[in-house]
Amino acid sequence: MKKMFLLLSLMFLMIGCGKDKSETTGTKEVKKTLTFYAGLQEDHAAMIAKKFEEETGIKTSFVRMSSGEVLARLKAEKNNMSASVWYGGPVDAFVAANEAGLIESYISPEAVNINEEQKDPDGNWTGIYVGYLGFVGNQKMLDEKRLEMPTSWADLLKPEYKGEIVVAHPGSSGTAYTMLATLVQLMGEDEAMEYLKKFNGQVRQYTKSGTAPGRMAGQGETTIGITFLHDAIKYKKEGYIDIVISAPSEGTGYEIGGVALLKNGPDQETAKQFIDWVLTKEVQEMGKTVGSFQFLTNKDAMPPAEADPIKDTKLIKYDFDWAGKNRVRLVERFSIETSTIAPKK
Ligand code: G6P
Repeated sequence: MKKMFLLLSLMFLMIGCGKDKSETTGTKEVKKTLTFYAGLQEDHAAMIAKKFEEETGIKTSFVRMSSGEVLARLKAEKNNMSASVWYGGPVDAFVAANEAGLIESYISPEAVNINEEQKDPDGNWTGIYVGYLGFVGNQKMLDEKRLEMPTSWADLLKPEYKGEIVVAHPGSSGTAYTMLATLVQLMGEDEAMEYLKKFNGQVRQYTKSGTAPGRMAGQGETTIGITFLHDAIKYKKEGYIDIVISAPSEGTGYEIGGVALLKNGPDQETAKQFIDWVLTKEVQEMGKTVGSFQFLTNKDAMPPAEADPIKDTKLIKYDFDWAGKNRVRLVERFSIETSTIAPKK
C-alpha cells in the first residue's frame, strides 16, 4: 500500500514536471513571427531578415520575387495571405496591388522622415529607395564586336545591336515595367508600342527578373542589358570588371522602391514594427553593406558613395500613380503587340 502510494505520488510529480511552465500558469507565450515578400536583391532581403530577427527576437523569413510575381501571388492569396509585408520593388506594382484591394493602408510614425514625393499620402506604400533605369554593357564584348555603348533609346534600334540586347519582361519584372512605362510617358502610348515592336526584334532574350541582364552582361552572356544602374554598379563591384553603364540621352525613368502592409496578412502588429524599422536612417543605410546602391528616401540617410557617378542622370517626370493604375493594361498590350509572355524561370 505504502509502495503503491509512493509510486502514484511519483507519477503525479513527473506529470507536473513534464508540463510547460507557461502552460500551467495559463500564460503560454506565443512566439512572434514575420514573413515578408521581398522585391529587392536576395542578399539585401536576407541581411534585413537576419538583423530584424537579431534586434527583436522575432522569427523572420522572406520569399524573393520579381514585382509581377508578387502581384500574382497576392491576387492568388487574397483571402489567405501568407506574408504580411511587401518589402522592395518599384511602387507601380504596389499601386496596382492597392487597386486590386490587396494593401492595408499604414502610415508609419517613421514616415515623417521620408521625403514628401517618395511616399503615398494615404499610406498605401512608403518609399525606401530610388533607382535609375539605364543600360549596362560588357566592354570586352563591345570591343570585340566593334560596337559603341548605346547612349539613347533611339540607339537601341540600330541594326548593329540586333540580337545583342537582354531585358526582363514587364509581365514579371518591375525593372522592365519601369522601361515600358518610361517609353509610354516619353513618346505617348501608340508611338511607344511601335518602338517596342521594333525593339522586340533586337532582343536576344527576355528574362524573368530585372537584375538578370546586368549579371549576364557582367558574365559575358550578353553585350548589352537594360537594368537599374545601381544593380550594374553592384555587379561591377563584385568583380565583373568589364561592366560599363550609360543612361539614355532622351531621359530615363526611375523607381521608388516601396514597403507596404498586406491586407489580411498574419502578424499585423509585427508587420508594422518591421515597416517602422526599415524606414529608419540606420536600416536604409545598411543596404550598401550588401551592395545595394540605391539613393535613399529617409531625409537623414546618406546616399552610398557608389551612386555618386549616376546622380546627375537625366530623368523624366515619372508618374507612379498613373504607371500603377495602367500596369495590367499596358503589360497586356505589350505582350500582344510583341507576341511575348513573361518567362517562368
Ligand atoms: C533589384 C533592384 C531593385 C529593384 C528590383 C526589381 O533588386 O536592386 O532596386 O526594385 O530589382 O526587381 P524586378 O525583378 O521586379 O525587376
